[in-house]
Amino acid sequence: MPDVPSDGYDLVVVANRLPVDVSLDDHGEPTWSRSPGGLVTALAPVMASADGAWVGWGGSPDLTLEPFEVDGTQLVPVELSAQDVARFYEGFANDTLWPLYHDVIAQPAFHRVWWEAYQRVNRRFAEAAAGQAARGATVWVHDYQLQLVPKMLRELRPDLRIGYFHHIPFPPLEIFAQLPWRKQVVEGLLGADLVGFQRGGDAANFVRVVRRLTDLTTRGQVVTLTSHGKVERHVRAAAFPISIDSGAFDELARTPEVQARAREIRRELGDPTTLLLGVDRLDYTKGIRHRIKAYGELLEDQRLSPSTTTLVQVASPSRENVGAYAQLRDDVELLVGRINGDHGQVGHAPVQYLHQSFPMEEMAALYLAADVMLVTALRDGMNLVAKEYVAARSDDRGALVLSEFTGAADELTGAVLVNPHDIEGMKDAITYAVHMDGRESRKRMRRLRRRVLGHDVAAWSREFLGVLTSVPTRENHV
Ligand code: G6P
Repeated sequence: MPDVPSDGYDLVVVANRLPVDVSLDDHGEPTWSRSPGGLVTALAPVMASADGAWVGWGGSPDLTLEPFEVDGTQLVPVELSAQDVARFYEGFANDTLWPLYHDVIAQPAFHRVWWEAYQRVNRRFAEAAAGQAARGATVWVHDYQLQLVPKMLRELRPDLRIGYFHHIPFPPLEIFAQLPWRKQVVEGLLGADLVGFQRGGDAANFVRVVRRLTDLTTRGQVVTLTSHGKVERHVRAAAFPISIDSGAFDELARTPEVQARAREIRRELGDPTTLLLGVDRLDYTKGIRHRIKAYGELLEDQRLSPSTTTLVQVASPSRENVGAYAQLRDDVELLVGRINGDHGQVGHAPVQYLHQSFPMEEMAALYLAADVMLVTALRDGMNLVAKEYVAARSDDRGALVLSEFTGAADELTGAVLVNPHDIEGMKDAITYAVHMDGRESRKRMRRLRRRVLGHDVAAWSREFLGVLTSVPTRENHV
């Protein structure tokens, strides 16, 4: 067992990414900007209010950095070499696990050298966390990149309370079973005391996988681990749907600057009668192609007018070295070019495609400007963009078209739900949302806002950590 640090932290978050991307400026000094994705969106406000440490990667290869503090959180960088980035991050995490866990929308690749790298890098994260946690501390491990960390960490530090939260879907046994290293992954996760998922269905899939791939007994959502015939400990699996800092987002969207910018955006777009909006990482799970195809057909069928309708599609760059992502970018850009070529006019393009990331203020203004928000993911753990849109709409206006294959669909029942594979159904749903009368859209939006504002990310982490801290640790157990 490694030394327990005398000045360790009582709460340590471990995630593949730090909340900031670090790079070196022209003078070799580190500079940082907020890192992408839903995980950081959710966790950053949680950590801002806790005195804890965050162990993660700074987002660039071969960068050796000392721990540093941002907004009261101690950030502890884990170094990844260029080879680790290629094999662990782009390879095993994003070309094996990501497609496997998202309904094999893309074909997962199985490579033994990637698996080797996954184990090696997970061990590095576990060791870094073990070096930060005070005796009896709580360590909260996040997401599919780090599924082996709970077990590795428990072996290093049996005194710790270990939670794991899975931000993406957990697949059905029939799909999970394809993974050549399925048993090791399950055992890795079972190193935690509490394994959290977005939806009840994900937790049920996990428990079924445990039952079929291990000899352990399960009762409801509790797995019992035994050693030499004696009960050693229990692992609980449960759903904790994640959220955003809805109050802060609501406030941001109420500021005069954001409100003015929302009006300006509509003006800059030529004051369209109808403004549709999509906001996603450029990822094949998000259903961007399906959405744009449906929109193109609505223009073609003249159910929407190309001269008075605009779709703004923000597609933030993501995982660009992974083949399926490069292919998706080509496909989307071809489609956008075709629609604009067929239906555009001088000075007006029916699709405004932005392959960029924007600051929160600009996003809030876009949400406020949009009449209809399109979230049409083919599979998504939660989808926080849907919640951000709702939190921004303190005017109770706007409509949300939401895929039933997102975790958010379980909660956001005021949305117009769609199956994004059904292009005709999606066209009808978009048309319905565009023409929805003010009374209905206000009623729906109020219902959506009650849910999003009533259950924010602070409530989510309170609930998860509340259950986790009720688990007896080995120290107070014996
Ligand atoms: C999703 C995942 C996160 C990931 C984020 C951004 O939200 O659940 O774990 O960090 O996407 O992806 P990236 O590969 O850029 O970290």
